[in-house]
Amino acid sequence: MNASELRKKFFDFFRSKNHKIVPSSSLLFNNKTVLFTIAGMQQFSPYLSGQKDPIKDFGTRHLASCQKCFRTNDIEEVGDDTHHTFFEMLGNWSIGKDQDGYFKEGAIKYALEFLTQSLGIDKKRLWVSVFKGENGLPRDEQAVSLWRQNGIPLERIKYFGSEDNFWGPVAEEGPCGPCSEIFYNKGDLDRKEDANVDFPDDIVEIWNLVFMEYFKDKEGHFKLLKQTNIDTGIGLERLTAILENKPSAYETDLFWPIIKKLEELTGIDYLKLDSSSKEKKYFRIIADHIRGSVFLISDGVTPSNLAQGYVLRRILRRAMRYGRLLGVPKNFLISLADKVITIYKEQYPNLYSKREEIMNVIQTEEEKFEKTLSIGLKELYKVIDHIKKNNKNTISGKESFNLYQSYGFPLEMIEQIAKENNLTVNKNEFHKEFEKHQEVSRVGMKKKFGGHGIEKVKNKKIKDKLTKFHTATHLLQAALRQILGPSVHQVGSDITQERLRFDFTFSRKLTDLEIKQVEDLVNQKIQDDLMVQREEMPLEEALHSGALAFFRDKYPPKVSVYTIGDFSKEICAGPHVSHTGLLGHFKIIKEESCGAGKRRIKAILE
Ligand code: SER
Repeated sequence: MNASELRKKFFDFFRSKNHKIVPSSSLLFNNKTVLFTIAGMQQFSPYLSGQKDPIKDFGTRHLASCQKCFRTNDIEEVGDDTHHTFFEMLGNWSIGKDQDGYFKEGAIKYALEFLTQSLGIDKKRLWVSVFKGENGLPRDEQAVSLWRQNGIPLERIKYFGSEDNFWGPVAEEGPCGPCSEIFYNKGDLDRKEDANVDFPDDIVEIWNLVFMEYFKDKEGHFKLLKQTNIDTGIGLERLTAILENKPSAYETDLFWPIIKKLEELTGIDYLKLDSSSKEKKYFRIIADHIRGSVFLISDGVTPSNLAQGYVLRRILRRAMRYGRLLGVPKNFLISLADKVITIYKEQYPNLYSKREEIMNVIQTEEEKFEKTLSIGLKELYKVIDHIKKNNKNTISGKESFNLYQSYGFPLEMIEQIAKENNLTVNKNEFHKEFEKHQEVSRVGMKKKFGGHGIEKVKNKKIKDKLTKFHTATHLLQAALRQILGPSVHQVGSDITQERLRFDFTFSRKLTDLEIKQVEDLVNQKIQDDLMVQREEMPLEEALHSGALAFFRDKYPPKVSVYTIGDFSKEICAGPHVSHTGLLGHFKIIKEESCGAGKRRIKAILE
């Protein structure tokens, strides 16, 4: 059974149990403490914590999905059989047991029924883990007895603490609860395992059932949720590998065409590589990272030195560096990206419609990196020579940060080359340098952009003009997203007395027609004389209401949201005009590139 059949079986099964199939949300999670979607439950958080009613929005409290996820916490493990940056998670939810939802009993029953009946897995291969009780929370005896009633004997049940068997919250605060995990035993059926000792590598986790009962607040206190929920997640890659009887997902249809392309590019036969060889690991890392990059770009991320953009840059560069070690030709990544798009185009048609943009971003970044890499490598070897001559063995934080800052060398690449030369890198010092730098640019940004700077302007005439530009910037962003697509995001903005400047993600030059369409749309909204309204709300609520937010790490817990008619909605410190009719005539005076995958527009109000 391949991955598409597995997705289909999962949906068919939960549809037959009256669940609604909800599409995956974006990989980007607009929360100040979380950059990415790391689990299927994130898009349902407001329903799980009781703020929103699932019946109103979905017509049912029973949901299922196949969610795109991206995690970086395991990045060092990528290359083994089970860890990935990007992955898909199949999940089912029951929101609110007390109404007509199900809880532990239903989740356990459905999970076993799906695995054994829909997928034909032998129940004797299934092991489970339950929460042993910790931090004042009780041991989950009820789960133990339910597993036993459903045919999992005590000798296949293990007990673990919070680290393994307690899920959430994803952000600083949120719904959470103890969980039970289902494992698949690839080895001997009659094996005996110690109840409290970690599972060995050939007993693989496949399904996590979370029994959401608590809300953890920012201070770390647990309160009982108003309602109890079920949140479950299956790693699609892992289960596919098991069903296809392959050592890992890399040998399944989810990755195989990428691996084959890499074989062609390197002349190396992947299947002949020893399973513990470095080359095999490099093959897998490259395949994982190109897949992750394609998905991140398709959700609007472009390479940069901040937040999600930095993660994308890092994995693209890691893939390029490992490619170099395998001896691939230059510009190899786009041919791999092409395979990713082909593999996933049915499940995620937006990959195909954004093909050109994805390819452009990757190509540009690869060319850029090639250049900096060759200069940077020379510099790094100078540093290494100097250290060796002085009989030292550490690259300092300053030296490594300079290499990072000037040549885009990710820290881990510096570390790797250092290791090849029997040197280490002072990582603590590096991080201190990094933070110092972040602080400086944050202060710079605050001075330059946003309400604070503007409020200090004394001259009323200038102030009015700046305010108008500020509102026009919101109209421009909404118009760009409408004309060019929702992957357009603000990456910078600057306002002077004469003009506004707006930087955004987009991978090619705008056509004359597109510029005209954007101008016309903004002018139409000015003529419509739309009301500009301000509302204060908690950040979380603002993000969930769909308000656009672009400097995620800067927002206070309570924010202002500005809406312009039903055309634009953004978190912003203001100030703005009260209605758009005051703005005059909007005109774009320049459109140009301002970095990889980024464009800059300058515009005036006449
Ligand atoms: N939230 C849980 C997980 O991601 C179950 O979906 O493992």
